[in-house]
Amino acid sequence: MTVEEFLQEKSQCVEAALENCLSNYSNAPPGLIAAMKYSLLAGGKRLRPALALGACELLGGKQSDAMPAACALEMVHTYSLIHDDLPCMDDDDLRRGKPTSHKKFNEATAILAGDGLLTMAFYELARTGRADAVAVLAEASGVGGMAGGQYHDMLSLGETCDIKDLQRIHACKTGALITASLHLGAIFADASSEQINALTGYGRHLGMLFQITDDILDVTGVSQLLGKSVGKDEQSSKATYPAVVGIEQARILAQEAAEAACDELSLFGEAAEIFHVLTRYILKRNR
Ligand code: IPE
Ligand code: IPE
Ligand code: MG
Ligand code: MG
Ligand code: MG
Repeated sequence: MTVEEFLQEKSQCVEAALENCLSNYSNAPPGLIAAMKYSLLAGGKRLRPALALGACELLGGKQSDAMPAACALEMVHTYSLIHDDLPCMDDDDLRRGKPTSHKKFNEATAILAGDGLLTMAFYELARTGRADAVAVLAEASGVGGMAGGQYHDMLSLGETCDIKDLQRIHACKTGALITASLHLGAIFADASSEQINALTGYGRHLGMLFQITDDILDVTGVSQLLGKSVGKDEQSSKATYPAVVGIEQARILAQEAAEAACDELSLFGEAAEIFHVLTRYILKRNR
């Protein structure tokens, strides 16, 4: 199976499940559900659900067991994108190839669509009865994870950051949710702590790789392929890898992160082949 086929297969299943989740809210304001749907079903690579479903399958679990976690991850991720694009944060007009939520609707609706997605994520995950899974997602999304990382990202504007500061920001704002994706997939396969350690170790390096390539693509990428604007990081003096270490060194660090990620997979041998291929795909990605 190619990585494109892997991602496409996972996207299709998760999108059907996401539609199903949204359709259960017939008593909610239709306008708010429409705004949530607008961002949630706008495409996107569905990387986090694919990691969760793939991790569950790698450990012999059933994809359907990890599906609530896959949906919850994509809901939290989409909420983070809606809020990330707000004028008070990155102030972006384009996301997943469409006007951002606050542009299409208005700021209040965008904030509430994010709130709705965040809480819906925890509702879907709580329904599995796995409190350990709920705790993993809460930790990764909250002040010690994505939200905390986004806070530091905003504080870093115009400040001089060193590579250590940058690693901390990226590990939290992006790495935490990617690591949680693998962790949740493992939980729903009833993984051993050794398997969880290997997968979360992989996730930490993959998360770093993912945000380094995101930073690089903001400099070298094509807006039509990315579905978002480019050049904004430099314009707003963001602390990014190209800004702090230069583009060539950023590419080297991305390569190192990819290698370190793959090293963490040794426990699984050839069974983890799709994760090796996925890592190379992320290293070379143009979207
Ligand atoms: C963008 O994430 C935000 C980051 C954490 C870098 P993705 O690149 O996964 O965005 P989608 O889901 O494909 O739109
Ligand atoms: C965002 O990082 C990470 C999130 C938690 C949303 P960026 O601000 O670089 O993501 P993009 O480039 O807007 O997708
Ligand atoms: Mg941002
Ligand atoms: Mg942004
Ligand atoms: Mg970016």
